Amino acid sequence: MSRKKIALIGGGQIGGVLSQLIALRELGDCVLFDIVEDLPQGKTLDIAEASRIDGFDIKLEGTNSYEQIHGADLIIVTAGLPRKPGMSRDDLLSTNANIIKQVAEAVKKYAPDSIVIVVSNPLDAMVTLFQKVSGFPHNRVLGQAGVLDSSRFSTFIAWELGVSVKDVNAMVLGGHGDTMVPLTRYANINGIPVMELLERKYNDAAKANEVMNAMVERTKMAGGEVVKLLKTGSAFYSPASASIAMAEAILKDEKRVLPTCAYLQNEYGVNGYYVGVPAILGAKGVEKIIEITLNNDESTALGKSISAVKGLVEDMERLGF
Ligand code: APR
Repeated sequence: MSRKKIALIGGGQIGGVLSQLIALRELGDCVLFDIVEDLPQGKTLDIAEASRIDGFDIKLEGTNSYEQIHGADLIIVTAGLPRKPGMSRDDLLSTNANIIKQVAEAVKKYAPDSIVIVVSNPLDAMVTLFQKVSGFPHNRVLGQAGVLDSSRFSTFIAWELGVSVKDVNAMVLGGHGDTMVPLTRYANINGIPVMELLERKYNDAAKANEVMNAMVERTKMAGGEVVKLLKTGSAFYSPASASIAMAEAILKDEKRVLPTCAYLQNEYGVNGYYVGVPAILGAKGVEKIIEITLNNDESTALGKSISAVKGLVEDMERLGF
């Protein structure tokens, strides 16, 4: 049986970390593509030269030629410009749409049977465009946002409660923007509701709510918080880790239940849009969307987020994509 082939389109900050994680976990052979001459070759050479030390043995190559991605099983797309301080994800729309269009055409040509995870922002619009241009079935084109947003939320909860982050289960739904919906009611520490633990900690329901709301707000703004500190570029370690969790679920047919930017066909009352929802990821990509029961407040928040996604897609269409 041949080894899986993974192609990374975009050899910038996230692409570099992705290559290293794929090597360390020996997820398959890996091709790193970028339009900047020598950049992907330099990064993959550097990583490969650590193989003796880290004990991995995969084929790792950097390229400026799309032909090298030929026959890839899985593609992760991070091509595009990252956000600069003060710039919203939506400002990136037009520039990155042009890039994604080129990428989708190339992937369609050279890796027509691949499953594609899009990471480039603004995420919900870029996934939509990639699927449209490639014409791939919707289950083979998905976006990474919720795994990262949920991990950020979980991290803040762990810090607040002084418990191991390994025991935190928390999920964020909706679009990858300021309207995302961290699900406070479902957040738990190995089954114990986070709200209950907060109420016990503060012995005051109002204070517990206030603390939870602060964590929700920090989660929504977490990308911007990192951008502000880095001064140049945006988060890259955690988006890479989040994408690898999704890639691994697909490559190993794990059937993991992960928040995924997936195409909705009447789930959550939405038809024909990519939105962040829990989904089962396996060898076929998005294998099933899981509909969870939402209360009124959660439904309203998700509705707002879906409207924002629709607005973004409409803006993109108005720009001619
Ligand atoms: N084809 C392939 N790669 C391209 C193209 C293109 N047409 N245009 C630009 N690139 C490459 C750039 O040369 C750069 O190396 O995409 C890479 C992007 O890398 P970074 O600028 O370092 O951005 P990164 O932090 O990796 O984020 C990539 O993911 O989270 C999102 O908002 C983020 O959209 C951004 C993307």
